[in-house]
Amino acid sequence: MSARILFVTGTGTEVGKTVTTAAVAAAAVRAGRRVAVLKPGQTGVGPDEPGDVHEVARLVGAPLTTRELMRYPEPLAPDTAARRSGRPYLSPDRAAAAVAELADAHDLVLVEGAGGLLVRYDEEGRTLADQAAAVRELGLPAEVLLVATAGLGTLNTTVLTAEALAARGLPLLGVVIGAWPDSPGLADRCNLADLPKTAGAPLLGALPERAAGAGDFTALAYAALAPELHGGWDAAEFTAVHAPA
Ligand SMILES: Nc1ncnc2c1ncn2[C@@H]1O[C@H](COP(=O)(O)OP(=O)(O)O)[C@@H](O)[C@H]1O
Ligand SMILES: [Mg+2]
Repeated sequence: MSARILFVTGTGTEVGKTVTTAAVAAAAVRAGRRVAVLKPGQTGVGPDEPGDVHEVARLVGAPLTTRELMRYPEPLAPDTAARRSGRPYLSPDRAAAAVAELADAHDLVLVEGAGGLLVRYDEEGRTLADQAAAVRELGLPAEVLLVATAGLGTLNTTVLTAEALAARGLPLLGVVIGAWPDSPGLADRCNLADLPKTAGAPLLGALPERAAGAGDFTALAYAALAPELHGGWDAAEFTAVHAPA
């Protein structure tokens, strides 16, 4: 059986990509899957600091493979961070080769991008989308999982991302809300129905906003993710419960 390969992107930065990646990993590990998490380009952390894959490993708290390809200390887009650091850019082919190697020995490979979908990784302007396309050119079934914010503004960035994916022939598996508020407002509630319509893809989860600080992260991940992602969350029920009057 070939591995599932999911590129995790977001409608922006700090939207919960890392927390979502950890939740998807935790639910898959719980389901007995062999999981690998790859961060092709890590920015904003020094040589001895934990990066996103370390945060994922900490949250999952169970055996999984983690890999980081390039690290740049400044918190900038990877191309600019690379140029300023004098370190090499990351090419889509190098990222795809790493994904292919991980896909050989795992059931699920999660690839967390930097920022949103079209953030540049090199001076030619190649992006996470180009990395996913390079994986698909190897004959591997890469799909994209989009992490969105809950509230006002998310529909525009969601449809922009969905259109950019469609233009590149990259399949969007679904949308996960990175941080669902404890006290959702009107826009949050309406967006539960509007996000999947806008994305043209199903809503596959909504992580509670304090997910990363919760006691049993795996139980929380299971409760917040759809069966497609090895969870027990029901999008229709959740949407109905929160539907505004
Ligand atoms: N559901 C959540 N529960 C707890 N903390 C969260 C959640 N979503 C985001 N955060 C916090 O918000 C910040 C950004 O989230 P992160 O997953 O790192 O975003 P991204 O990877 O998209 O930059 C982090 O400090 C993270 O701990
Ligand atoms: Mg992150």
